[in-house]
Amino acid sequence: MEGAELLAQMRLNGAVPRHIAIIMDGNGRWARERNLPRPLGHRSGMKAVREVVEGAIEAEVEVLSLFAFSQENWQRPLLEVNALMSLLQEYIAREADELDARGVRVRILGDLSRLSPGAAAAAEGLMTRTAGNQRLTLNLFISYGARAELVRAARLLAGDVRDGRLALEDIDEDTLSQRLYTSDCPDPDLLIRTSGEQRISNFLLWQVAYAELYMSPVLWPDFTRRHLYEAILAFQARDRRFGRVPV
Ligand code: FPP
Repeated sequence: MEGAELLAQMRLNGAVPRHIAIIMDGNGRWARERNLPRPLGHRSGMKAVREVVEGAIEAEVEVLSLFAFSQENWQRPLLEVNALMSLLQEYIAREADELDARGVRVRILGDLSRLSPGAAAAAEGLMTRTAGNQRLTLNLFISYGARAELVRAARLLAGDVRDGRLALEDIDEDTLSQRLYTSDCPDPDLLIRTSGEQRISNFLLWQVAYAELYMSPVLWPDFTRRHLYEAILAFQARDRRFGRVPV
């Protein structure tokens, strides 16, 4: 089926996922298959980001969360780390006008203290500029790890208890959720991972508790909005029970 047909089918089926999270994997393999240096795989991956953002807007998804750089990725060769950081800055410089015009609210989430001053300033600028947009929230996770996010939330809770802002007995799932980077988003309904790997890799561990998992064999640079729509159609065919039995 063509993209437009898939989109029409999706609308016929009814509800689309409110929040889609994606582990974008396979840039390195895509480059290797073409005898290209790895950074060129990431550059092609940036085009796929653009494509999927467009697809999410067309599908009327509310939140799109993309795992762009993990805490572990800092251990890659310096050349590759630098290439990824400059790609982030290039993405922001090239896409800011279009994202803003399309009504996308961009949030860059993770340990931003490790970014270069230039990249951090660009990230802050884009977040401030698009803060009032409402069509799609695009969460870009950079220098992010879910365990570190949970440790951060635990520290915030402990600080609030210590300073008398929160009673110990008021610590529950809600008060913890409110201290995650995603506090104002619904949890992901659908988690997609590309390139055939079947792992969560420390992405949004708390938030994906009830997400449907969709593993695609496609390498990230080849992922198009058609693949996104296929994932949404597969999601619509799933039977989500949240641990309950059908009534
Ligand atoms: C995983 O592929 C991908 C990454 C570590 C980086 C993701 C980055 C992008 C898609 C481009 C930049 C995006 C923005 C928004 C600036 P891999 O390198 O682990 O691939 P491999 O497993 O095949 O080696």
